[in-house]
Amino acid sequence: MRRRKIENKVLLAVTGGVAAYKSLEVLRLLVKKGIKVKVVITRGGEKFVTPFSFLSLGAEEVYTDNDQFSVINGSSIHLVLSRWADLIVVVPATADFISKVASGISDSLLLTTLLASRKPTLIAPSMNENMLLHPATQKNIEILKTFGYKILEPDEGFLADLEKGKGRLKEPDEIFEEILVELSPKKLQGLKVLVTSGSTREYIDPVRFITNGSSGKMGIAFAKVARRLGADVTLIVAHTSQKLPFGMKIVRVDTTEDLYNAVGNEVRNCDLFVMAAAPSDYKPKESKPNKLPKFNNLTLELIATVDVLKEASKYKDNKIFVGFALQTDNLIENAKKKLEEKNLDYIVANLPENIGSDTGKIILIDRAGSISEFEGDKESIAEFVFSKIFKF
Ligand SMILES: Cc1cc2nc3c(=O)[nH]c(=O)nc-3n(C[C@H](O)[C@H](O)[C@H](O)COP(=O)(O)O)c2cc1C
Repeated sequence: MRRRKIENKVLLAVTGGVAAYKSLEVLRLLVKKGIKVKVVITRGGEKFVTPFSFLSLGAEEVYTDNDQFSVINGSSIHLVLSRWADLIVVVPATADFISKVASGISDSLLLTTLLASRKPTLIAPSMNENMLLHPATQKNIEILKTFGYKILEPDEGFLADLEKGKGRLKEPDEIFEEILVELSPKKLQGLKVLVTSGSTREYIDPVRFITNGSSGKMGIAFAKVARRLGADVTLIVAHTSQKLPFGMKIVRVDTTEDLYNAVGNEVRNCDLFVMAAAPSDYKPKESKPNKLPKFNNLTLELIATVDVLKEASKYKDNKIFVGFALQTDNLIENAKKKLEEKNLDYIVANLPENIGSDTGKIILIDRAGSISEFEGDKESIAEFVFSKIFKF
């Protein structure tokens, strides 16, 4: 059993936009993931958030323009910070900051640090729609792209004055995801990964259905981690209350039959298939077209649904197939049986306690019968499984 944690160093830069408070949430997500964070705040940024807020939420150090002319062990602070960081992220980036970077101006600690840095840099603009669409800002953003900076395009939505428009800062969880993409080694580059997730529904009538307890968290974690590792990901997702990931092809499905059809369409094109969805094993023999009246008793006759994994294995060739087995009894024995029956390369055995939970304990079994255990959050489980498959 191992816990795998990313240990990277991010310089989080905060400029003077009204969305500066959201950079605190980005910091919190980074710290929770075990990433070391130092913060630079511009003079404008200090009007909106204080260094103390960042220190309280786990930043290692916070610098402002009062530190611009400090020297640490014979090196100027901007050189120290640019050498220390693996990645620089500017959240939010004002129009003013963007225009200064485009011109090579370096009259603040942050601007000097950026000019002195060759590290990957993400810039998340946020401003009023007119400021964003002004030709000067648009031209400056294009210039920043030519410098190799990655722009995290602002969203449409409610802006500071409660007007709707483009210019809203990308959501902190999406910025966090882009940071993880930048920091992750591209071990799955060039691979096409197909993941299924969520639970299917089998309808008794238009409003009633049988389903199972799967939350969709495991499959979504596998899809996100595969993308971070550089894979081209397709996620087939049945019912889930989770926010769907971005940066991948998403196919929504409802019933097991839909899942079967979607897998049939996609599986031929993949290199790795992760079947984390929980299809309902049974469906009502008859699905009524109109809502049934309320009865005191109702007996349902259930029949087996199509076996998605078994059908998919017809297209297996030399693709890698990973299945999941959730069992209440004889976990390892039953998981090994499923691995054989469904022609899988790996099976992830897990217990019902994992359903809906953010963390869990799994047992990974391969065709040779070797067994390894892992406990952690579902993204760490996905990292562990990929590291075993691709030996990194
Ligand atoms: C209340 C208020 C909110 C502001 N919000 C933004 C904003 O969201 N985006 C932006 O580009 N500028 C915004 N500005 C303007 C910047 O604060 C201003 O251009 C400042 O010089 C930016 O400094 P900096 O880029 O060095 O942090 C705002 C100004 C005020 C007074």
